[in-house]
Amino acid sequence: MMRPTGKVAIVTGASRGIGRAIAVGLAEFGYNVAVLDLASQKKELAETARQITAAGRVAYQYEVDVTARGEIDAVVADVIGKEGSVDVLVNNAGILKPSTLEDLSEKDWDAHFNVNAKGVLLMCQAVLPQMRRQKSGRIINIASIAGRQGVATQGHYAATKSAVITLTRVLAQEAGMDGITVNAICPGIILTEMGKNNLGSDEAIRHWETVASLKRLGNPEDVVGPVRFFASSESNFVTGQALNVCGGIYFH
Ligand SMILES: NC(=O)c1ccc[n+]([C@@H]2O[C@H](COP(=O)([O-])OP(=O)(O)OC[C@H]3O[C@@H](n4cnc5c(N)ncnc54)[C@H](O)[C@@H]3O)[C@@H](O)[C@H]2O)c1
Repeated sequence: MMRPTGKVAIVTGASRGIGRAIAVGLAEFGYNVAVLDLASQKKELAETARQITAAGRVAYQYEVDVTARGEIDAVVADVIGKEGSVDVLVNNAGILKPSTLEDLSEKDWDAHFNVNAKGVLLMCQAVLPQMRRQKSGRIINIASIAGRQGVATQGHYAATKSAVITLTRVLAQEAGMDGITVNAICPGIILTEMGKNNLGSDEAIRHWETVASLKRLGNPEDVVGPVRFFASSESNFVTGQALNVCGGIYFH
C-alpha cells in the first residue's frame, strides 16, 4: 500500500478539471490540501474545497494568480503557519489558446510563458526554502505530451511544457541533496474544459479514441494515481522524470 510522505499538499489551478481531481484525490489519500486558482474561479474553487472537506481533510482556499510572486509567497507562508510544513506541491495551473506560430500574437506568447512556465518557477521558489528546512518535499509538475512532441497550433503551449520538463530535470538536480524530489506528468488528451475546447468536435474525439492504445481518452481521475505515486514513499528513488499518462497515444 502506498503511503503519503507528509500531511499537506498545495495544488494550483484546482477549481476544475485535472487540478480538482488531483486536489480531491490527494485529500482521499490523506492530505490536507491548499487549493489555488484565479479570483474569477472562486465559486468552483469552493466546490473543490467542499469535496476535500467531504473526504475528511482540511481545505485551504486561496484566490491567487500563479504569476504574482507576492501573492503566492503569502499563500505559502500562510500554509506553513497553519500546518508547519509544505509536503507536496502540484503545479497544475495552465492555459492553452491554440494558434499557429505564424499568427501567434506576442501577447499570447507572453501569457502562455507567464502562466505555464514562470508560474511553475515562482511556485517552486516559494516552497523550496521550507522544503529544504524540512529536508523533504515532493514537487509534481503537470506538463504535457505536447511538450515532448510539439503539436501544430500549439507551438507556444508545447514550448512552455518543454520548459516545464526541463525545469523539472534541473530542479531535481539542484534540490535532491535536501531530500526533495521533482517529477513531471505529461497527460495526453484529458476530457476537461481545456481538452474538449482543444479537440473542438465529437469527430476529433472519436479519431483520437481510435489512435489511443486503450481506445479511450482520459478523464481527470486518470491523472490522480500517478500524482499519488510521485507524492508517496513508493517513489522515494525517482526524481527528475517525466511520465506520460496518455492511454498509449505517445511513446517517447
Ligand atoms: N486537458 C488536457 O488534455 C491536458 C493535456 C495535457 C496537459 N494538460 C495540463 O493539465 C493542467 C490542467 O489542465 P485542465 O485540462 O484541467 O485545464 P482547465 O482549463 O480545465 O484548468 C486549468 C485551471 O488552471 C487555472 N489557471 C489558469 N491560469 C491561472 C493562473 N494564472 N493562476 C492560477 N490558476 C490559473 C484555471 O482557472 C483552471 O482552473 C494544465 O497545466 C494543462 O496544460 C491538460
